[in-house]
Amino acid sequence: MDTASFVRSLPKAELHLHIEGTLEPEMMFDLAARNGIDLPFANVDEVRAAYEFSDLQTFLDIYYQGAAVLVTEQDFYDLMVAYLGRAAHDGVRRAEIFFDPQTHTERGIEFPVFMNGFTRAIEYGEMRWGISAALIMCFLRHLPGDDALGTWHEAEPFLDDIIGVGLDSAEVGNPPEWFFDAYAHARAAGLHAVAHAGEEGPPSYITGALDTLHAERIDHGVRCEEDPALVDRLVREGIPLTMCPLSNVKLRVFDRLEDHNLKRLLDRGVRVTINSDDPAYFGGYVLDNYVDTAAALDLTRDDLVKLARNSIEATFLPDEHKQALLDELDAVAAG
Ligand code: ADE
Ligand code: ZN
Repeated sequence: MDTASFVRSLPKAELHLHIEGTLEPEMMFDLAARNGIDLPFANVDEVRAAYEFSDLQTFLDIYYQGAAVLVTEQDFYDLMVAYLGRAAHDGVRRAEIFFDPQTHTERGIEFPVFMNGFTRAIEYGEMRWGISAALIMCFLRHLPGDDALGTWHEAEPFLDDIIGVGLDSAEVGNPPEWFFDAYAHARAAGLHAVAHAGEEGPPSYITGALDTLHAERIDHGVRCEEDPALVDRLVREGIPLTMCPLSNVKLRVFDRLEDHNLKRLLDRGVRVTINSDDPAYFGGYVLDNYVDTAAALDLTRDDLVKLARNSIEATFLPDEHKQALLDELDAVAAG
């Protein structure tokens, strides 16, 4: 069996996926036409040609511009259904999906519009493909902590449909500590906490996310290696890193996939997972991330099973549901 078929057959979870980052150029054009929005591109090829990034910020500029075509509940529904179908086809059984409310509320699109679109799509995905999905609301860290707190209060009527909070957008210069209040409210309401840290920012942002925000998973975390005591801690405490290898190369965190530290950290005992981040912008969904990383870093079949196992263990699913997926994984791995 080739690597792609093998990885597809493994039950696994995707834990680092921005739904706005699944907006394919074709859908961008369809939605722009539907909503009467002018795009600064003549066609789909021009959009793809613009996806050459030199760092996180050059990506974010284009990503926020693209999200402007999302206007109606149907748009958010269509976006989510397209992702869930694609993920299910890759063997994803559980997806814990980021969304960025401030990207939409800043444009006058209110919570009920995107929340209803997302939740209807998730119900459909469960029924159509048997994929389980949940939403993690991210605060944009380039905006002030008070904005995050205001967003938290806007989200309060929708908490039955949100399992956790996260932190994303431009990392350097925007430390996790600024978001203490919003996270404290979220944790008090029983939500889970995750945070992007150590993508472009220093290892101290990872430590800050753990100690100040009580993040249960770290999104990216690749720069942890610069602090060996932090790596020891990640191993000791079993803290998952949701890594996104193709994203890291596109955003020049690593020059080449062969340089990625995923395998080294996996061998060191860190609970590493593989995810796609913003697949429409970075040239690959979760299966592509597994397959390309396996080729670049010589991952073994045991490594691939371990990565799938880590992803299931790192979900926020109830223990029985986790165990059922792990049992299935064991059965597939045993051949
Ligand atoms: N928003 C979407 N993708 C992101 C990434 N890789 N890092 C930070 N913020 C993001
Ligand atoms: Zn991300």
